[in-house]
Amino acid sequence: MRSMCRRQFLRQAAAAGVALVADSWAGRAAQVRISTSTCRVIVDPARPLANLDRRLFGSMVEHIGRCVYGGIYEPGSKLADSDGFRKDVLAEIRQLGVPIIRYPGGNFVSGYNWLDGVGPKKDRPRVLDRAWNSIESNQFGTNEFLAWCRAVRTDPLLAVNLGTGTPQSAADLVEYCNVANGTRWSDLRRQHGIESPYNVKCWCLGNEVDGPWQIGHMPAMQYGIKSRDAALQMRAVDPSIQLVVCGSAEVTMPTYLEWDLQTLEECYDQVDAISLHHYFGDLRETGGDSSKFLAMNLAMDRQIEEVTAVCDVVRGRKRSRKQLWLAFDEWNVWYRKNTEADLNGQRKEAPHLVEEVYNLEDALVLGGLIITLLRHSDRVRLACLAQLVNDIAPLVTDPDGVLRQTIYYPYAWALRYARGNALNLLVESEDYEAPGMGRVKYIDVGGTFDPENGSTTLFILNRDLVKTREVEVVWRDRAPARVGQCQVMTGSDLKAYNSFEVPKRVVPQPLDPPKAATRMTFEVPAHSLTLAHLPGE
Ligand code: AHR
Repeated sequence: MRSMCRRQFLRQAAAAGVALVADSWAGRAAQVRISTSTCRVIVDPARPLANLDRRLFGSMVEHIGRCVYGGIYEPGSKLADSDGFRKDVLAEIRQLGVPIIRYPGGNFVSGYNWLDGVGPKKDRPRVLDRAWNSIESNQFGTNEFLAWCRAVRTDPLLAVNLGTGTPQSAADLVEYCNVANGTRWSDLRRQHGIESPYNVKCWCLGNEVDGPWQIGHMPAMQYGIKSRDAALQMRAVDPSIQLVVCGSAEVTMPTYLEWDLQTLEECYDQVDAISLHHYFGDLRETGGDSSKFLAMNLAMDRQIEEVTAVCDVVRGRKRSRKQLWLAFDEWNVWYRKNTEADLNGQRKEAPHLVEEVYNLEDALVLGGLIITLLRHSDRVRLACLAQLVNDIAPLVTDPDGVLRQTIYYPYAWALRYARGNALNLLVESEDYEAPGMGRVKYIDVGGTFDPENGSTTLFILNRDLVKTREVEVVWRDRAPARVGQCQVMTGSDLKAYNSFEVPKRVVPQPLDPPKAATRMTFEVPAHSLTLAHLPGE
């Protein structure tokens, strides 16, 4: 039985008066201009913030709706290869270059028995997935996922079941995946036709255990103790693995931060990172006001700073030399397809669930979230855009092909161009009043500098809904030789979206680049996201 879904819980919590970060953001925000001066960005490649961990732009594939079945795997399809993998989807993801993918959930993992999904397919049970009230055929399991990862050229981030599962079953899965041979579970893998171990490096200790909607939900202290036990057993099997413990599922949770604190008190020494989740765009927060919506990435900044502070408090209390890093392993825009009905699979196989249709505005918000991840990449080393295909996803399939939603584009830019070191940028900009949020800068910028080839990439978000803005980029040290790629996402209709009928309604457009110099001025259109890639040579 699904006792209560996430959305229902959050709605009830809000009605009961649980403090919401943006409670006071009622009414429409007025973008009040205070002057018309140019915005300035100081770029100093000699002062990097952090060397970028490629895992910062990972993604997620859960057994939810049509993400696996009908998304990445569809054996009967004319587009499937001999393994049943959708070739068109595979090609898209390979081309994107997604570095790491979290699997198999999400909420799904908390009731999942990994043994159901290995061995001869004909013997695998059809089970009721209680997270999404769907039928799980188990035709796609751990080995299929890991084979698919190889085909896509990505690393897996496996989550273990710490809901109905035990620390022992988690350690068994590590043994199945990572031990060469000569033990019960490694030999079972070999019996299943996989000779060599996979050496899966990074593992999540369950999912959103603080949420009352979660199968196996439990108090923080209990979860912290269970995680410590699981970590010790999993590391006894493979000492080289990295472990991510669950932090708060939402900033709106009544236990937000207290959960993280209590959990870490129990298992700080045994884990490497703590997870953060956030889906942006809740209408209660924005009131449907675009000027607030485009500032939502600032809520992500704040969340990262708060969870970082908790990690460091526990570190201090424990006098630990180890500093945890953060895994923002679920983030995206998601606010339309999240009603009770959208989350209920009605006991069908591969039902249509949470198939959010993304518009231009969502893509701009996603660009802002990428900027935030870049500016916190000293502590956030891994993050997953949730999810990858069909369900709250940049890619959507139908029987004949795959569609790139609007949010595909900023994500693809980040994957392709954000390389080397994240830049510690100084941004000066006019601002506007967003009620409940205070002053918000019209212009937000994130960037990277790659010392290997001297190239710089800037992502520029213009939150001004009506005005083109001039952004003067001032280079300390040496200026780039030329402006290479300069593209922009904008348009007259913030609500425009792509569909199979009109797949290219919202796509990046070329933007006139300024001449390369130590000071250069970009003209960024109203409500836009600009990518500027400046090669070193
Ligand atoms: O990504 C969809 C769901 O959102 C995940 O299963 C869960 O972890 C979160 O609540």
